[in-house]
Amino acid sequence: MQHQLDKRTIIVDTDPGQDDAIALLFALAAADRLEVRAITVVAGNVPVDRAARNALVVRDWADCPEIPVYAGCPRPLVRDLTTAESVHGKSGLDGVHLHEPHAGLAAGHAVDFLINALRSSPEGSITLCLIGPSTNFAAALIQAPDVARRIREIVMMGGCYFTRGNVTPVAEFNVYVDPHAANLVFQSGIPLTVLPLDVTHKALTTPVRIEKFRQLGNRCGSAIAQILTSYGRHDIENFGVEGGPLHDPCVIGYLLDPSLFLGRRVNVVVETQSELTLGETVVDWNGLTKRAINAFWINDIDADGFYSLLTKTVARLP
Ligand code: RIB
Ligand code: CA
Repeated sequence: MQHQLDKRTIIVDTDPGQDDAIALLFALAAADRLEVRAITVVAGNVPVDRAARNALVVRDWADCPEIPVYAGCPRPLVRDLTTAESVHGKSGLDGVHLHEPHAGLAAGHAVDFLINALRSSPEGSITLCLIGPSTNFAAALIQAPDVARRIREIVMMGGCYFTRGNVTPVAEFNVYVDPHAANLVFQSGIPLTVLPLDVTHKALTTPVRIEKFRQLGNRCGSAIAQILTSYGRHDIENFGVEGGPLHDPCVIGYLLDPSLFLGRRVNVVVETQSELTLGETVVDWNGLTKRAINAFWINDIDADGFYSLLTKTVARLP
């Protein structure tokens, strides 16, 4: 598939979250390729107020005060909220000093912003990056189904198929927290590219990769190195991997250089009924069900190329 490497207008929906913070810095550093229209925040790794504060802190690190940050849904569509402080710390950004944000949130709810921003954008013009539970966008889609045609592509970090779950034996955190929202996205008919654990677990942090961020000598490189030094502890201890899987930045890496990634166009359905397998992304990898294709499911990465791109891009930041 010939990939377009033109400039994209993106909205990043996020639950910062240590890897979210690095994904945000990655996107903000790539201003020549990505126009970040806004950051919308959702409850996930930590409660929404804490996640929103963290997004403001990261915005300050990148010195991008002009980019609005909107707080969104404090809980999933149907389920109670499940958070991940055990992974990201109570602050949500363990490992680094968090200053008092220089400026506050934009007025209004993230869901209202999404609806208004999409309705005022040309058809097929907005790329939506979902790097937390999909609650905000699912709520927008329920309230205003017409916004779907304004979206060029959704690029989502979530799900797992070849790699087992990270929150239950079969479910990945973002989808598990709000499986109803995730399934709405998968069934929306909007062009969808998914970066699941299958690929993010091949993009592991290592001491050598972390040191390269520290050696950049800028504020953001130092913050990333500090975060990554703390990050991944949970995955290393629980899954025996040799580093932390750098989940959310893979979404931005895909937008900047899709040639670093490989995948297959498949059908995906999210389990929303069974308590045992709630949040499982059922991927029809071999086309056995004849269900319609609804996702480009990425399962491989040039990890060295990805880290090289990430490192040289964030080198541009303060
Ligand atoms: O399963 C990984 C995902 O859950 C990432 O987005 C991480 O930030 C957490 O939200
Ligand atoms: Ca996240």
